Amino acid sequence: MRVVVLTGAGISAESGVPTFRDADGLWEGHRVEDVATPEAYDAQPQLVQEFYDARRAALAHVAPNPAHEALGRLERALGDDLFLVTQNIDDLHERGGSQHVHHMHGELRSALCRACGSRVAWDGPLVDFPGCPGCGLTELRPDVVWFGEVPYGMDEILVHLQRADLFVSIGTSGAVYPAAGFVTFAARHGARTLELNLVPSEGSAFFDEARHGPAGVLVPAWVDEVLGEVMA
Ligand code: APR
Repeated sequence: MRVVVLTGAGISAESGVPTFRDADGLWEGHRVEDVATPEAYDAQPQLVQEFYDARRAALAHVAPNPAHEALGRLERALGDDLFLVTQNIDDLHERGGSQHVHHMHGELRSALCRACGSRVAWDGPLVDFPGCPGCGLTELRPDVVWFGEVPYGMDEILVHLQRADLFVSIGTSGAVYPAAGFVTFAARHGARTLELNLVPSEGSAFFDEARHGPAGVLVPAWVDEVLGEVMA
């Protein structure tokens, strides 16, 4: 059985990473267009760097929760039959045991050089505009996909969605495309579809089945079910 799992901010909520669109959302104090667009970066690079520097530093104070760990277990059982694509820029899937994670919106622990295009592993701040290890120019920006930019690896994602027997969406509001369209795309290509989210998402009606509750409970239970079927 080929499974595609899409995750969003909700899977990291119980780890203490704020979501974007819930009441205590990440953007409090910052309008999204002030920090998450190329135009914002051109206008106020310092503010944008500080915003993402703070998010990157905060990773040291959070840990994966049972939902991330359950997906790590699923990968060990299914191998290449699992494709995990996340909109999250945190590293909690990796720390939860997943070795192959497709970060379609980029990663906090990576920097992108606007001069040479290098993507380099990055753990420290960028606000002091350090030189790029590739070309030496001081053009490193957060390696995150901003509104108006194209997500990473769309071709590969669509191939996996086309082949999927099961598509599962976890902890995402269904408000941001292209990820919000994955459910209908996968269904059109024959996949069964399942939503696991705290409350019905904007796209909830498009799923064959929807279960509502905290990811830390729903995801381990669902993974146990799948592993039971696979082993049977
Ligand atoms: N368990 C499961 N789901 C949860 C939990 C939880 N503990 N807590 C919150 N949720 C759900 C919310 O109900 C909401 O539907 O997670 C969803 C989070 O939605 P958003 O905050 O919109 O996050 P996401 O869907 O990942 O946002 C998509 O928007 O701003 C951009 O690039 C950013 O990747 C992000 C994209």
